[in-house]
Amino acid sequence: MPAVTLSTLQALKQKGEKIAMLTAYDATFAKLACQAGVDVLLIGDSLGMVVQGHDSTLPVSLADMVYHTAAVKRGNQGALILSDLSFMSYANLEQTYASCAALMQAGAHMVKLEGAAWLAEPISRLAERGVPVCAHLGLTPQSVNVFGGYKVQGRGEAQARQLLADAMALEQAGAAMLLLECVPSALAAEISRAVQIPVIGIGAGVDTDGQVLVMHDLLGLSLSGRTPKFVKNFMSGQDSLLGAFSAYVRAVKAAEFPAAEHGFSA
Ligand code: KIV
Repeated sequence: MPAVTLSTLQALKQKGEKIAMLTAYDATFAKLACQAGVDVLLIGDSLGMVVQGHDSTLPVSLADMVYHTAAVKRGNQGALILSDLSFMSYANLEQTYASCAALMQAGAHMVKLEGAAWLAEPISRLAERGVPVCAHLGLTPQSVNVFGGYKVQGRGEAQARQLLADAMALEQAGAAMLLLECVPSALAAEISRAVQIPVIGIGAGVDTDGQVLVMHDLLGLSLSGRTPKFVKNFMSGQDSLLGAFSAYVRAVKAAEFPAAEHGFSA
């Protein structure tokens, strides 16, 4: 049992204290992130881009996710470990159960799935079977080919109402946490108020219950040379990785990151 559990995250939301989540892909960086006070380590399928050098998350396999989850578990010092289900590893219920078992047996305490209302059934079945689920809404990178690029989601009244309805339906289905990526800040604030479960944002403004960044982005490292609007380089002004991670955690906890300039309008 990690020091940070679902109850810890729920209590942080109730007290209005922010949750700091950061991606990690190996033992050394996982340990450093824990020393900096990160609450949740996310083994994101972003590893397809920042570790493997692909241009999307689609080539990442479940075996890759299991490998990196096991590595992070070995470096973890009390954070809650959240692992992504890779593209098409949750296409039907039987496959979803097997994929979750593999990730949790490798060390995950919670799994993350990308989607919308269609996730209600798998989420409720998984919750019944002892698998806590984080539902990733908004810009879901595994659907980049449907979106036609990495675009802000939930803009305009109809899309915003749909996203709010999806969030509430997934909470009702049994989701333990939501992650909102690249949605207008005002909408993310509304969703965070509307649900009782913790809501983590990336490119979703400061009013969610917590923040997540891809570790390489936080460190100012970019293979493509492009920096998304919602990223801040926390290495700048620091002389160590621990200093950069600690600056991120402090800024999240103090609600100083993200600033208005990192968010999106409706
Ligand atoms: O894969 C990942 O790192 C993620 C974050 C971008 C939230 O899902």
